[in-house]
Amino acid sequence: MDLSGKTALITGGASGIGKATAIRLAAEGVRVAVVDFDGAGAEATAAEIGSIAFQADCGSSTEIDEVFTAAEEALGGLDIAFLNAGIAIGISDITTLDDESYFRMMRVNVDGVVFGTRAAARALTRRGGGAIVATASLAGIVPFAPDPCYDASKHAVVGFVRSVAPTLAAKGIFMNSVNPGMTDTNILNEETKEMFRAADFPLMTAEHIAGAVATIIETGNYGECWVCQPGRDPEPYRFGSAPGPRGGATGVIPPVVASSKWATGGPNA
Ligand SMILES: NC(=O)c1ccc[n+]([C@@H]2O[C@H](COP(=O)([O-])OP(=O)(O)OC[C@H]3O[C@@H](n4cnc5c(N)ncnc54)[C@H](O)[C@@H]3O)[C@@H](O)[C@H]2O)c1
Repeated sequence: MDLSGKTALITGGASGIGKATAIRLAAEGVRVAVVDFDGAGAEATAAEIGSIAFQADCGSSTEIDEVFTAAEEALGGLDIAFLNAGIAIGISDITTLDDESYFRMMRVNVDGVVFGTRAAARALTRRGGGAIVATASLAGIVPFAPDPCYDASKHAVVGFVRSVAPTLAAKGIFMNSVNPGMTDTNILNEETKEMFRAADFPLMTAEHIAGAVATIIETGNYGECWVCQPGRDPEPYRFGSAPGPRGGATGVIPPVVASSKWATGGPNA
């Protein structure tokens, strides 16, 4: 996709990776709607790039739908969605996990991407196609003992993106994830940043990830999870394949099953 003249909605645009991506896409000629729970922060990013801002809780499907409709109207259609809002809870010992922290994180990290994709797909279909990027994490591919529930939420994003992408691609919508390693943003507290510095472990800048997002959109593939690491160009992760049924079948789910309503819905259906 050629970015110039396009429109985009970015969630989590008040800070860090979302803010850097808003600035990067604006510099490429994209008109950006900046969305964040932090309304004042979203306004500040929008002011920096001469664009528009919306306050919304991206863990709420209702608020996501409303903000996509408002942005679509304000920009005259949407070409790009960057579903980036997310949080971590930093709880490593599962015996100390409280329900509130768990559900608060899953709401924004997982529900935000699922309902954000639904809203984006509807808007992009009206436009005739486009691109969606979800922010997962390196923790969506590898184990991350300091925050196993965060790791689970990002694995969910990776599985969702890879699974929904082929159906979206048939509608001309190309969806991928960006999977950053450690990046110097507000999600890391100062103590953690200091520990990385002391260990001589480089942190990436948010601008490095924003560049990856621009590359992903321009590349136009789908179902890929682009890993970002310090000092390396971003690249799609090369997933292995699971063993198929013994005896010659490929193990690939037949398309007729993939497009059917195949599940029973469970005991309460
Ligand atoms: N920084 C890293 O090391 C790193 C690494 C991998 C992935 N990520 C992911 O990158 C994404 C962006 O995080 P960041 O590092 O820029 O952190 P950040 O804290 O600087 O930015 C996150 C933004 O999301 C917003 N947000 C949080 N909950 C929200 C909600 N319910 N509704 C709307 N907005 C909400 C925050 O207000 C904030 O502006 C997150 O999904 C995070 O998990 C970060």
